[in-house]
Amino acid sequence: MTAGGEEPAVREVVIVGAGGMGRAWMDVVEARPGLRASAVVDLDLSAARSAAAERGWDVPVFTDAAEALRDAPADLLLNVTVPEAHRVVSEAALRAGVPVLSEKPVTPSVADAMRLAALSEACGVLLATSQSRRHSPGISAFRDAVRSLGGAGQLEAQFFQNPRFGGFRDVMPSPLLIDMAIHQFDQARFLLGSEPESVYCEEFSPPWSWYRGAAAAQAIFRFSDGARFGYAGSWCADGLTTSWNGSWRASAPGGSATWDGEGAVQVEGPGETAQDLPVGGGSEGLDAALTEFLTALDGGDPPSGEIRRNIRSLAMVEAAVESAASGVRVELDAVFARAGAAALAEARASGEMQIADRLSAWAGGPPR
Ligand SMILES: NC(=O)c1ccc[n+]([C@@H]2O[C@H](COP(=O)([O-])OP(=O)(O)OC[C@H]3O[C@@H](n4cnc5c(N)ncnc54)[C@H](O)[C@@H]3O)[C@@H](O)[C@H]2O)c1
Repeated sequence: MTAGGEEPAVREVVIVGAGGMGRAWMDVVEARPGLRASAVVDLDLSAARSAAAERGWDVPVFTDAAEALRDAPADLLLNVTVPEAHRVVSEAALRAGVPVLSEKPVTPSVADAMRLAALSEACGVLLATSQSRRHSPGISAFRDAVRSLGGAGQLEAQFFQNPRFGGFRDVMPSPLLIDMAIHQFDQARFLLGSEPESVYCEEFSPPWSWYRGAAAAQAIFRFSDGARFGYAGSWCADGLTTSWNGSWRASAPGGSATWDGEGAVQVEGPGETAQDLPVGGGSEGLDAALTEFLTALDGGDPPSGEIRRNIRSLAMVEAAVESAASGVRVELDAVFARAGAAALAEARASGEMQIADRLSAWAGGPPR
């Protein structure tokens, strides 16, 4: 906002994280009228420098987001660091009064996300996650098809891929559940339009896996409207891979619908012949997530990734990991209760009463 209260003609963007995804975001910023990069930040200064130079940007580079926010103009911050750095970077921006669009997962833990949700509310500054895979013409067409059949009672996603990333995913615990499955879990919430309540999950390491952590999982979620969502995934599945959006099937009162994550949506009712439904065009992925975010900054609806809404996708991940470790079904309410207590204890211990007051009212998770 300018001093007069109008929206700025050009919004200055601080981009934190100049790895693979940070560079993808830089291209999105560059292509968007009304946005201008004002600084690039990375612990690895040479990565920040080369990313800026490749785009011909004459902007300062920093190793620390808080320092960049002190020295460079900022109307919004893109947090594209590794998950472990998300909390500290987003927190620095919120405290500086700068809205944040963060890559998923908004933080690695629900406790940290609850803390950030409370801080965002206390500061009155927007924090949203980009869940790029809920934004595509294909998933919207599939959701419309499922709705037209009366809503899914049973939803299945298969995700089988075989990337050789190197880097943090190869050495982290539960790489599939923590770094990837959040996409399909969030897509399931988008498709079902109700909220997850519990999960039973097993994760494991196929003998041929090249990851240190478990790279395969199967999970069954129960949603508040009684729907079941089944997930089967692997990140070490060579051959016959699914699309990166996953391969989907919904069973509904009026029939069934499928979507392979890339092409047509198919529907078939009782006694009918299966038909392909057209998938329209339109903005998707990062670009669509950015549009939602900017719309909110312009006074429009909150984005679908606003942290208090997005936190339920993160809670699905945490509950699945907990179920896999304990061997029992996990209720999401229990995840929120424990995470909220941990976040509250931290806020009280550090005398952050504005955060503590909110957290003490959020036993079942933050309000949506
Ligand atoms: N939406 C998607 O489809 C998608 C795809 C890939 C990655 N991601 C997400 O994007 C994020 C980044 O992933 P990536 O593949 O670009 O990782 P990456 O490892 O390639 O890049 C991350 C960068 O962050 C920097 N960094 C780490 N801590 C920092 C800090 N405190 N301050 C400044 N810089 C810091 C690192 O030096 C590195 O250059 C992750 O959260 C990941 O889950 C999303």
